[in-house]
Amino acid sequence: MDVSVLGLGTVKLGRNQAVKYPQDFRLPDDSEVADLLALAKDLGINLIDTAPAYGSSEERLGQLLSGQRNSWVICTKVGEEFVNGASVFDFTPEHICASIERSLRRLRTDVIDLVLVHSDGNDEAIIRDFGALDVLAELKRTGKLRAFGMSTKTVAGGLLAAEQSDVVMVTWNLREATDIAVIDYCARHRRGVLIKKALASGHLGQDNPGSDPIADSFHRILAHAGVSSIIVGTINPAHLAANVIRAALAAK
Ligand SMILES: NC(=O)c1ccc[n+]([C@@H]2O[C@H](COP(=O)([O-])OP(=O)(O)OC[C@H]3O[C@@H](n4cnc5c(N)ncnc54)[C@H](OP(=O)(O)O)[C@@H]3O)[C@@H](O)[C@H]2O)c1
Repeated sequence: MDVSVLGLGTVKLGRNQAVKYPQDFRLPDDSEVADLLALAKDLGINLIDTAPAYGSSEERLGQLLSGQRNSWVICTKVGEEFVNGASVFDFTPEHICASIERSLRRLRTDVIDLVLVHSDGNDEAIIRDFGALDVLAELKRTGKLRAFGMSTKTVAGGLLAAEQSDVVMVTWNLREATDIAVIDYCARHRRGVLIKKALASGHLGQDNPGSDPIADSFHRILAHAGVSSIIVGTINPAHLAANVIRAALAAK
């Protein structure tokens, strides 16, 4: 799969409750989302990250990407739901299969490019006790998805997920770098690596006034072998454009 160095994270397209961003925000309307997606595409971004737990994100993408499905690599997730303002988790095979069918409908597609298990932090139990990656491997064999993996929260879980799947999504920013061990494993074994929270969910800018922490974070991440793409969440077109320039400079 060929993905842009910067991907678009879409929590803020569908959910503004129980999130960890520094400022409150309103969900963008359809025309704002359509403009943001068009800008992302114009700037060379082809990877978009969503999840059932991101409120209306999947449904909105399905509607607003209608007619341009082939221009995008779409990543969604299974295991976490956002119900009545709170996260609930279900990693059973039945839930995973039903969730994939719902994502196919919401995203208005026949096949999902990438599906990640949306961990609650118990990475190893989700893999060993629930067999969540085995279920996704079977769904890949049936053609419902092209690749699968896990968004993990522990190093041990990240390593186990990388052993048994195509892609892991891990955290890396200027404040949190423990998942580098997972990235190094992936580089050696040719697994894909997506970085989440590269800007510490928007809290990065508050550390060192006068520096450009976003550029510093991108430089550090993209200088490291094994990273496929950084998924940055934004609903601000100016931020999106500035991030693409920073990522291009960092990737040189
Ligand atoms: N699988 C998981 O468990 C998991 C967990 C968390 C996130 N994710 C994925 O990773 C994506 C990114 O994570 P994230 O959204 O938590 O955090 P992030 O990408 O580290 O930070 C996003 C925040 O940074 C702000 N921002 C972006 N560019 C900026 C700029 N140039 N200047 C100033 N502020 C800027 C955004 O605000 P503006 O909208 O104002 O730009 C937003 O509030 C998510 O959207 C999601 O797709 C996955």
